[in-house]
Amino acid sequence: AASVRRVCCIGAGYVGGPTSAVMALKCPGIQFTVVDSDAGRIAAWNSAAALPIYEPGLDEVVRSQRGRNLWFSTDIDAAVAAADIVLLAVNTPLGPRGAGLGGATDLSAIEQCARTVARVARRPTIVVEKSTVPCGTGELIAGILRRDGRPGVGFSVLSNPEFLSEGTAVRDLLRPDRVIIGGLDGSEDAQRALASVYAHWVPQERIVTMGLWSAELAKLAANALLAQRVSSINSISAVCEAVGADIADVSRACGMDSRIGGRFLHASVGFGGSCFHKDIMGLVWLAESLGLHDVAEYWDQVLQMNSSQTARFVARIARAVGCDLDAGAEVAVLGFAYKAGTGDTRNTPAAPVCERLLAQGARLAIYDPKVPARQIRDALPAESHYHHRVRICSDAYEAVAGARAVVLLTPWPEFATLDWARVHGLMAQPAYVFDGHRALDAPALDRLGFRAVSVGVRTTHHPKLK
Ligand code: NAI
Repeated sequence: AASVRRVCCIGAGYVGGPTSAVMALKCPGIQFTVVDSDAGRIAAWNSAAALPIYEPGLDEVVRSQRGRNLWFSTDIDAAVAAADIVLLAVNTPLGPRGAGLGGATDLSAIEQCARTVARVARRPTIVVEKSTVPCGTGELIAGILRRDGRPGVGFSVLSNPEFLSEGTAVRDLLRPDRVIIGGLDGSEDAQRALASVYAHWVPQERIVTMGLWSAELAKLAANALLAQRVSSINSISAVCEAVGADIADVSRACGMDSRIGGRFLHASVGFGGSCFHKDIMGLVWLAESLGLHDVAEYWDQVLQMNSSQTARFVARIARAVGCDLDAGAEVAVLGFAYKAGTGDTRNTPAAPVCERLLAQGARLAIYDPKVPARQIRDALPAESHYHHRVRICSDAYEAVAGARAVVLLTPWPEFATLDWARVHGLMAQPAYVFDGHRALDAPALDRLGFRAVSVGVRTTHHPKLK
């Protein structure tokens, strides 16, 4: 395979930014240019102050490579024209439901990128799907390149789905479990060229080539399976609360079975993030379009279980704190990001929890160590009578002052190490804690005088609560 000198990544988001930065770190001989149509985002990547996204360790990698072999630019055409490999890491949000292939997913950004490559590329170019796309998208891209590309310019389309997890993106990129490179027959050279980039730091046995459809489907399947584990354990947590079992013990007992494994068996208020919901919807609609109704229904149930888990959590809060909520009691919400380690709030369960609490009459004091105040406000319902009932706080103690209940929605480590005696002293009594992640020591909180309620455990000291 011809040697790779220049890589262009279209899309400077959670995937494109960290992926290109780590590749640049590991491949000093290759130039990486990350381009985006959002000039503000590019400016933030180039700024000396805060990068547009927060990921542990990312600042250091960007700082060390930026201006050497890592560039951020809005000049998409120039970067694409110069590239041997173009990574597509643009958004693939849910689209309006339509018939057939891609009906569920809005592929307009991908299509636009393919048209750009076709228009500006003057030499053989490898186009790589990094975005998560429905099965068959590779064919769509290849069709655009065939139709709109300059005659004589050869294109290859590969699927190289990204499996990084937000909050640990840099670590995941440095030590990926696997790198999947899918291609159609005849794209072996292109597969080898992309593999040669990863070979700078990923062991050979972890770089796996396969057909294009398999690679595309592998990403949807992996996310569906991960989300399914969360919904499965959450469904058991509901049984625990009803019968007096403890989900932490049940999870541990199940996870010690080597066939099951202990990871991703943590009961919680529900999963969030930009991917699980969207990718399962993609799988559900793909199955529907193929006439596989049972398959579609099966995976749809994973999403339904997730919504009902969130709703059940709020119902417990409402039952415990009861009519005080209607009277405008303040609830301190600790954590708004969809998980610890990220400032991302896309599809965070915190949004429906806050919305339901507001609808019941509560006032909210919200604190998250990594989510800017504006981003929290934007994720809440737009009604103005809600907005004046929401305070965004700059630390946890400010949030809990005067509150009747603390609701923990993101398991940031700093919440476990709060001075809970001080928190108790600051709150209105009786002070409740609702732990949506089993991140706190409930018996210790009870001893301090709290009424602690955790996901997946029956709460015996409240007659109204199971
Ligand atoms: P993002 O929204 O953070 O970034 C996408 C970027 O693409 C934005 O900055 C946007 O301005 C830019 N963009 C969109 N259309 C463009 C166009 N036509 N030309 C130039 N730039 C354009 O999205 P994120 O989270 O990075 O996701 C990207 C893809 O990666 C999605 O398909 C997602 O499903 C997938 N993915 C995301 C993961 C995550 O943890 N966020 C993990 C694995 C895959």
